[in-house]
Amino acid sequence: MAALRILVVGGGGREHALCWLLRRENPDADLYCAPGNPGTAEVATNLPIAADDVDRLADAADMHGIDLVVVGPELPLALGLADRLRAEGRAVFGPGRAAAQLEASKAFAKEVMAAAGVPTAASRTFGAGELAAALAYVAGHPEPLVVKASGLAAGKGAVVCATREEAAATLRAMMAERAFGAAGDTVVVESFLEGEEMTVLAITDGEALALLPPSQDHKRLGEGDTGPNTGGMGAYAPVSLATPELLGRVEREILRPTLAELRRRGAPFSGVLYAGLMIDATGAPSVVEFNCRLGDPEAQVVLPLVAGGVTASFLSVARGGLPMPIAYPDGTFAVTTVLAARGYPDRPEKGAAITLPASLPEGVTVFHAGTVRDADGTLRVAGGRVLNVTAVAASFAEAQAKSRAAAEAIHFDGRTLRRDIGWREAGRVGRSARTA
Ligand code: AMP
Ligand code: GLY
Repeated sequence: MAALRILVVGGGGREHALCWLLRRENPDADLYCAPGNPGTAEVATNLPIAADDVDRLADAADMHGIDLVVVGPELPLALGLADRLRAEGRAVFGPGRAAAQLEASKAFAKEVMAAAGVPTAASRTFGAGELAAALAYVAGHPEPLVVKASGLAAGKGAVVCATREEAAATLRAMMAERAFGAAGDTVVVESFLEGEEMTVLAITDGEALALLPPSQDHKRLGEGDTGPNTGGMGAYAPVSLATPELLGRVEREILRPTLAELRRRGAPFSGVLYAGLMIDATGAPSVVEFNCRLGDPEAQVVLPLVAGGVTASFLSVARGGLPMPIAYPDGTFAVTTVLAARGYPDRPEKGAAITLPASLPEGVTVFHAGTVRDADGTLRVAGGRVLNVTAVAASFAEAQAKSRAAAEAIHFDGRTLRRDIGWREAGRVGRSARTA
């Protein structure tokens, strides 16, 4: 049989993890990544095409006779890359433009959840020209509250506001000063949810589900979950909070009704459905956000735990079939620590030279995100999130210690990291050890 020809779209840490896994599962495949990064170049052939250049991506898929396109980021999905490739008869893993609205429009996601009876924070949506109405609404809203740009804002469009004044200022910045451009022309104001966040990723054909290991991101820049929201500073999987009972509820109360409502609206979702959840003190899940793709950095802990079958599941769904169940063995744990640039998330400083250790400890993988390699071979900082240091081990504590130690062994000027990734899980593990 001819080697499988796969194209991964994107160039961050998630796409390096995807390429790494696809290579592990398919040693003989012709694997391409567009645009990729110096990490994906170690396992795939990078194509110098931007992830949102739909025309050139379609041409490249044609030229290389691609059997499977896997789309990493949300922007090309929201731009209709999957529809375009499917119209050309190509197998593509990722939702079309209509279903990708679940992430690209928080207003649409709220409408879908309301229609499907999916638990989520109470909210109101305000469109362009409705700043006065939005200000009046927040003036009567209990504190704290959350103001969100409805459109795509690279993970920075949600502002948790401690006071009504802060919410009013955020509304003015979004709707009048257009701090998020067109993404903030429509805003969603919602009530603050208390609890612990968790990510559930499901491969789906629009109806059937294959869950990946549950994970937890760390959105805030600073240790102890302080400072501004970022794209994510680290993650771990699995999460012991995610019992089979809780995951069953997430399927029944959240994933299945959402997919059914999207089918009813003529926008069936195929690909990875990302449910960003809040689990309250009673253990009840509600939705903070939906995304239409794998998480970043969640993919960097979820994919290394999987025993196999991801390529088969992606291919099956891309060809209109069912998602195959994904096996992940008990007793393996993954933690990833993000190394960011000084100034991230607002103004990351680029250009610093990166020193990687000559060899990595057993179980540690370094995924590249914002890096670039000079003509002379020097690796340099080229983005806000620079590297993701993933450790897989037989206990959570070991994975946590290894990820942190390996992250500390990488150096560049301005290196910024959290040394407390997994602190909630460490507390749970500690408590159960004490009560055992
Ligand atoms: P989003 O872009 O909607 O995922 O929001 C980014 C982050 O802001 C989330 O991961 C949460 O940490 C926080 N957040 C968003 N909405 C809420 C909410 N309603 N209650 C509490 N925290 C929230
Ligand atoms: N880590 C959050 C996201 O991928 O949206």
